[in-house]
Amino acid sequence: MSAASHDQVVIFDTTLRDGEQSPGASMTLEEKLQVAEILDTMGVDIIEAGFPIASNGDFEAVCEIAKRSKNAVIAGLARAIPADIDRAGEAVKHANRGRIHTFVSTSPIHLRHQMNKSEEEVLDIIKATVTQARNLIDDVEWSAMDATRTPIDYLCRCVEAAIEAGATTINLPDTVGYAVPHEYREMFEQIRGTVPNADKAVFSVHCHDDLGLAVANSLAGVAGGARQIECTINGLGERAGNAALEEVVMALRTRNDVMPYDSKVDPVYLTRASKLVSAVSSFPVQYNKAIVGKNAFAHESGIHQDGMLKNAETYEIMRPEDVGVRATSLVMGKHSGRHAFKDKLAELGYQLGDNALQEAFRRFKELADRKKNVYDEDIEALVEDEIAIQGE
Ligand code: KIV
Ligand code: ZN
Repeated sequence: MSAASHDQVVIFDTTLRDGEQSPGASMTLEEKLQVAEILDTMGVDIIEAGFPIASNGDFEAVCEIAKRSKNAVIAGLARAIPADIDRAGEAVKHANRGRIHTFVSTSPIHLRHQMNKSEEEVLDIIKATVTQARNLIDDVEWSAMDATRTPIDYLCRCVEAAIEAGATTINLPDTVGYAVPHEYREMFEQIRGTVPNADKAVFSVHCHDDLGLAVANSLAGVAGGARQIECTINGLGERAGNAALEEVVMALRTRNDVMPYDSKVDPVYLTRASKLVSAVSSFPVQYNKAIVGKNAFAHESGIHQDGMLKNAETYEIMRPEDVGVRATSLVMGKHSGRHAFKDKLAELGYQLGDNALQEAFRRFKELADRKKNVYDEDIEALVEDEIAIQGE
């Protein structure tokens, strides 16, 4: 995949690579195959299936995913080291369409403390490793690790060298989650406006969530000209995680009026994918997580419930069924109003007269003040009791 049309944004999922790097999130081969299958089915364009040099298990997983996936491009990660690139090439060669994703650090802090290399040495490494990868496969992504803390002039030289050596995708990661949206957008605008051969590659965003800005930064990067978004299901990833795929996809879809970019991902699979990744990584999804949290389509306040019963658009900007949730839930609690209570009684099969309804509602409020969760069974017991009293 070397170019994306103007309004299409390529979704690159790295749940199985950057996501799995999250401490405690490692997955078995069988689990990785299940995750890859749903990603492939839901229309993810590129699945980064692992880091083949990291272990024999990772190599085997990338090979197996490459053999089985029907639609997606399968990528394998490689450091800027010849043995890594060969191993990644070995693994992805089984795919209908494979990609080698190679990266090197470009920021002064990484060059000095981690790599002990000069800027010129890193430029030579970029040329040599991207050329090596291109000799193995047509689809090569190059990433400038810690791009957002790299001086722009040097970053431009690195990007130019990578494209010259044959990189078809240029990824500029916010590796440490340091950027803010307008700055990340400007970085893409500047690079694309300065590097002479920039139009030969697709630009890509890859954002970490250390400041809670990963999704906002990703969308800002797209506004700056990037056309690939790297993300993970549930935002799984190193430290505070990566940009969450479900948030990116639904933001693009819901606000297509101001962000005219489409992705091929079918959102109806989002909830299922989230549950699967949560189960196999053993990372619970927080209740109030956007799109896939338990409370993402739940309402308790009386005012909101009343609005929802009149028209769902009053308090919901997305339809739950669009992301694979069966229905909105109106949770009965101390904030619920009479309208929602009456509606709940009807759902449970009760129709009370005015006096009984008044009294049952009063008792329900009393109960909700004492009890954290009011279940349908609690309401049934209370109503049955009220009916008995009224009948006496
Ligand atoms: O965050 C990062 O910089 C990465 C690279 C390997 C792309 O994950
Ligand atoms: Zn990353």
